[in-house]
Amino acid sequence: MDIEKVNSMDFGEFVDVFGNVIERCPLIAAAVWSQRPFLDLEDLEKHFFAFIDALPQSGQEGILRCHPDLAGRELQQGKLTAESQREQSGAGLTSLGADERLRLAELNAQYRARFGFPFILAARLSDRAAVPSELARRLLCPPAQELRTALGEVKKIGGLRLADLLCADPAKL
Ligand code: GUN
Repeated sequence: MDIEKVNSMDFGEFVDVFGNVIERCPLIAAAVWSQRPFLDLEDLEKHFFAFIDALPQSGQEGILRCHPDLAGRELQQGKLTAESQREQSGAGLTSLGADERLRLAELNAQYRARFGFPFILAARLSDRAAVPSELARRLLCPPAQELRTALGEVKKIGGLRLADLLCADPAKL
């Protein structure tokens, strides 16, 4: 899909296509549509990220809370979005052994209890061995720093999803 096609989309089509760039936050795509036309993929991405950056902390935490746990209940129940399913499965999180799943569930619960939002990591840039070690490491970070890190991961996930949709190489962004 090229940028002319994106710029020609009506509101409904745009939200259908880009509504899950930020996990379960179609409102962001709905707001970004008003900013068209976009120069290119990078410009489109900039608008998604600027919306996130402009939110008060409560809104930013709301975005984080829309994400499912990695290898969590929604994965077991088949309730993930198609994008999250693909990313988690690509990282090997759909084929964990019972021990690994339990360990991750415990760490996810500790993380939520400490920060009030789920642990978010761009799963496509990680793998099943790195997820628990990164989770354990980030559990020790100060809350203000962790909020920034988590939002950075949301942007990495969104950037990769956008690049997929526009068939672009994310390394060139
Ligand atoms: N990394 C990539 N996708 C997801 C997701 O849906 N949830 C979390 N927590 N991390 C992710």
